[in-house]
Amino acid sequence: MKSKEETSKPINSGNRPSSLKPEGDWTRIFSYHAMDVEITRAEGIYYYDTDDNRYIDASGGPFAFTLPHGDSRMKQAISDQMDSFTHINPTLASRPQADYCAKVSEVTPSKLNTTYLVSGGSEAVETAMKIARQHHLAKGNTGKYKIISNYGSYHGMTLATQGLSGNPGYDKYFGQMLTKWPHIHQYSDHDKPEGMTREEWAIKCAERLEKMIYFEGPQSVAAYIATPHGCGSDWGVVPPKEYWQEIRRICDHYDVLLIADEVVTGFGRTGKWFAMEHFGVEADIMTTAKGISGCYIPLGAVMVSDEINEPFEAGNAYFVHGFTNGGHPIACAAGSKAIDIYREDNLIENSKKMGEHLFTYKEQLLAHPSVADARGWGLCMTLELVENKESGEYFPSSKGAESIFHSLTLKNGLVFYSTLYGRRREPMFKRGLPLMICPPLSINQEEVDDLIGRLDNTLHEWEAEMGVG
Ligand SMILES: Cc1ncc(COP(=O)(O)O)c(C=O)c1O
Repeated sequence: MKSKEETSKPINSGNRPSSLKPEGDWTRIFSYHAMDVEITRAEGIYYYDTDDNRYIDASGGPFAFTLPHGDSRMKQAISDQMDSFTHINPTLASRPQADYCAKVSEVTPSKLNTTYLVSGGSEAVETAMKIARQHHLAKGNTGKYKIISNYGSYHGMTLATQGLSGNPGYDKYFGQMLTKWPHIHQYSDHDKPEGMTREEWAIKCAERLEKMIYFEGPQSVAAYIATPHGCGSDWGVVPPKEYWQEIRRICDHYDVLLIADEVVTGFGRTGKWFAMEHFGVEADIMTTAKGISGCYIPLGAVMVSDEINEPFEAGNAYFVHGFTNGGHPIACAAGSKAIDIYREDNLIENSKKMGEHLFTYKEQLLAHPSVADARGWGLCMTLELVENKESGEYFPSSKGAESIFHSLTLKNGLVFYSTLYGRRREPMFKRGLPLMICPPLSINQEEVDDLIGRLDNTLHEWEAEMGVG
């Protein structure tokens, strides 16, 4: 990290993020990756640095900041709750928690009416894994414990969720500490056989789950977890609805719970409250975080179906779980106000409308020699960046393509979250690297135009510097 004075000089004057070293106070942060821009405030879709340079928050942080930055209503709700009480002994009734969970059930799909509160996405996924197990125990199916997930998936960074995620790269570090779960290949347009429709291919892809359940033994499989859109190299691919409908059928047939990980896609990102609504499919358990509070405060939640809730509500099962800060009154107040804002500002509708506007730029973006694909839904567009469209492959790490890309975006007044795996990425199997365009859902048309104009320039400059095209 450069000193403050240096940081406020023209952005990225030649330094690439990877070449910076932390100095001074910055060295007191464990495992800190030095950045060359320090932010002092944020408003709407913008960040401002120490020199008052403005940047568009083009990825909504880690695809998370759905609400406008600096919203006074959020500040007020948090402050009001602080004025009454900030925490509560868990043996006492917490009105903010009851009010909030009731409000959540107004916006969730019809069967998902009860909510367990945690502090983030990894906690939500781990909680969902335990709920799935205890659901089967409550039904007397004691052998059901396995959770199937997708290759290339990401469900969090705790040991349980790293084991679930389909990225063998974690083995290198944590090996035997991880529980290894079965994985399947999700729907992908990339390997769709020629002459087959997406719908036909979707059914074939879904059959992989049935085969996996069969070979693992249906009596041992508790749940299947997946994000509504693709993961890994296929991040953001929206499968045909037939895919999810077939997955639902298979899960029902084998008494396997369907867990939709809506940590990214939930709360409006895709133009509906929750992404599974696009397919007319309801999960049994839904995990959420990020947009749930727009990250104003750490919050995550697991919504469960009435059927799963039943033995717990009847007192015939007891959930062996709980965190000190789960259902924190301030988080409940923030989550509650976030739902009010989604409604008052029509943010879900705006995500749909502005998403449609964003996708009018699809062909312009695809015209770039470095953009092999532009896909997604709502305010969630993924570009697949490549070195060469013929091979469909990304640059070798030695070329430092991401660092150069990020320094150009900063120069052009944009901030992207690191492309999918950044410098830590695993082999891409002859694929490009996903770049996510996920601005706050409050973005307006002029701001979308501005974002794309700046991105277009950045891509031209990057291609020139990388010798593409
Ligand atoms: C699909 C998905 N699930 C879970 C998580 C973990 O969430 P958190 O970082 O809040 O623990 C993430 C984080 O990006 C995610 O994308």
